[in-house]
Amino acid sequence: MNNLELINKADSFVKELFKDESSGHDYDHALRVKEKALYIQRFEGGDSFIIALASLLHDADDYKLFPNHLHHENALSFLRDNGVSNDDINKIITIIDELSFKGKNSKPCSTLEGKIVQDADRLDAIGAIGIARTFAYGGKKGRKLYDFTERPNNDMSYEEYKNRNSASLTHFYEKLLLLKDMMNTKTAKRMAIRRHKFMLLYLKEFLDELNLNEDE
Ligand code: NI
Repeated sequence: MNNLELINKADSFVKELFKDESSGHDYDHALRVKEKALYIQRFEGGDSFIIALASLLHDADDYKLFPNHLHHENALSFLRDNGVSNDDINKIITIIDELSFKGKNSKPCSTLEGKIVQDADRLDAIGAIGIARTFAYGGKKGRKLYDFTERPNNDMSYEEYKNRNSASLTHFYEKLLLLKDMMNTKTAKRMAIRRHKFMLLYLKEFLDELNLNEDE
């Protein structure tokens, strides 16, 4: 199998894996991350084969969807079953391990390919799509749209972050608005600006409609 055939096979694998998902961590998310990551790669360099596979598989064992998967069971079995070399498997699994948002313990990925996939994943968490995903995920978790009695917590450990069940709007202040300044690559930093601005505008409208902004 050549690289392109393998990437197409990973695409079908993820499509099947997420076929019942509508929480925003779904097949379309994996596809958008892959496309954005390959776009960033054109400016930043890096191995596009590793980037494409890591993007497609990055949520294949996500704790939010597969709480009992500790060792990348889905991603590893796909890569092994399809004859990907051990060296490439290590690179891809390291990216998946390093990329997720871990509250105040978040760190940039250690490789260029990882930094690019991490940026693409974070870009998909902000802007118009990020807003849609936040409310879709919140709905699935039974979270409120907003709760102004909550104080956003920006100092959470990974454990605290995973167990947090804040209202969707609070999540903007705990994660989404922080992501612009966490982008690794120049290209993603540039792409994040417009999405960030749109979220600020959206939040202003949201608060205006609730008469919570003073300037009307
Ligand atoms: Ni993701």
